[in-house]
Amino acid sequence: MLTAGGTGILATAAAAVAAVPARAASIVSGPAPGTDGTPEQIHLTWGHDPATAVVVSWASPDQAVRPRVQVGERIFHAEERPYTDGINGETVYTYHARVGGLRPGATYGYGVTADNDLNAADPFSATFTTAPRGRARFRFTSFGDLATPNPQWVLSYGQSAYAVSAVESFQPLFHLLNGDLCYADLNPQVQPAVWQDFGNNNQSSAANRPWMPAPGNHEIEFTNGPQGFTSYLTRYTLPANGLPEFEGRWYSFTIGSVLFVSLSADDVVYQDAGAFVAGPAALIPAPSTGNEPIEPGTSLYIRGYSGGEQTRWLDRTLAAGRGDPSVDWIIVQMHQCPASSSKTGNGSDAGLRAEWLPLFDKYQVDLVLSGHDHDYERSFPVRGIDHHVGTETATGATVDTWRPHPVTTVDSGTFDTSRGTVYLVLGCGGTSANLDAYGVDTADGITQARVFTQPNRPAASATPGVYARAGADATEDATWSAKRDTATGYGIAVFDVDPGSRVDGQTSITVTQYHAVGADPVNPATGAKGTPTDNYTVFETFKLVRPRSDRARSA
Ligand SMILES: [Fe+2]
Repeated sequence: MLTAGGTGILATAAAAVAAVPARAASIVSGPAPGTDGTPEQIHLTWGHDPATAVVVSWASPDQAVRPRVQVGERIFHAEERPYTDGINGETVYTYHARVGGLRPGATYGYGVTADNDLNAADPFSATFTTAPRGRARFRFTSFGDLATPNPQWVLSYGQSAYAVSAVESFQPLFHLLNGDLCYADLNPQVQPAVWQDFGNNNQSSAANRPWMPAPGNHEIEFTNGPQGFTSYLTRYTLPANGLPEFEGRWYSFTIGSVLFVSLSADDVVYQDAGAFVAGPAALIPAPSTGNEPIEPGTSLYIRGYSGGEQTRWLDRTLAAGRGDPSVDWIIVQMHQCPASSSKTGNGSDAGLRAEWLPLFDKYQVDLVLSGHDHDYERSFPVRGIDHHVGTETATGATVDTWRPHPVTTVDSGTFDTSRGTVYLVLGCGGTSANLDAYGVDTADGITQARVFTQPNRPAASATPGVYARAGADATEDATWSAKRDTATGYGIAVFDVDPGSRVDGQTSITVTQYHAVGADPVNPATGAKGTPTDNYTVFETFKLVRPRSDRARSA
């Protein structure tokens, strides 16, 4: 079953499943009395070099004794990273094993266990596949705003389970999860339980292939670290960004000819949408935490938290990527939307546009994926900014929304992204709140977007002691919007990268958006009531093309 030399490369997944428990059992010395170190919430992320390294992460109900991963003959001991939730005082134990020295494009079986694993006789096992080296075909998938399938939690919904199954059905090399993972902040007294349901729901895919996340506004939790990201950061080990104060918040990795860049948009957006106490009651942490009550009207607003470090890192990272002849594509993942025209959702944010779109233009970023609005929207390729074309909602005055400028408004189905960046809203994971109602200017029938051009900090409402945060403060004609899915707010995007066969030729990415028609609790266009469904069908397919970078250098 194992190849000679103990490299751990397995011929088939079945062989891996058969091999690992038997070997793992031989090294188990028995559970420590009274503690349960059984691995759960098991998930993979890429290591520094996705062709040779992955990280296996998990949690256990109690502290684990000798937590470890086995790959073939090799044992990788896990780092323990516990934290205590700042609201309910529960301590969570997470474990992270860095598995390196792997071969590119190879499938490995692995097992996860501990001395006090109650399943020690038959520990958890699965397989993963490392990234290919060099220009190669591969597939990845993406959505954001997943939640959990447990309807007990605010914003959770059964579609969340089908969304995870959908990832598996497409067998991607990896998945991009574009923020707002489980909305634990909206269930503040039980945050660890919400994260647990999220992790266990994801495990059926994320233990088989890396799921690479970006932090969203709902990862911001009161009393959990300087930006509120402790629950998130403790559960994920992500590629290093070289900035010790900000590790895990943003990062990049390269697979084949594609540079992936994951950003923390809360650092630059105007909108205030992190943890918030609306009132009239205060949020009172458990006495064991020693934390003070959080008064009504308090929100955790972290715009500017990196002091410009993230944008400087982004400039350096994009410059290096676009200057590298082995990199054709640059794909950016973030949570909030530079280009969304959802009417019932958040819309677009001029803070993001002003800070990062000039860099995306300068370095010809091909594709930007977001979440946040629970629907699907695609832009035309855009480059440059139309200034002072927005309208302030309250006054009717002209305002600068930093509107992206479309380089074409012909929806040809094939777009050269060396000429303009395509933006996708993919907040279509599995929440209970579909936001697939889109803006239209009633005066002229033109597609319209709402845009934040300033912070919407909490303000007193008409009800004494209750506070609210306003929606976007401006509108614009969304000349950049190419396609919006009115059938459902649920779906998954599938990306097939084809490096092309000739140095002087083109490379392409075929994008197919699959949607789950009928999953909307209520469809805003038709009023039809629906339920979660596993039936994902094609909504649209389009193709991105660009000249290969090795051609540009040789010309
Ligand atoms: Fe969000």
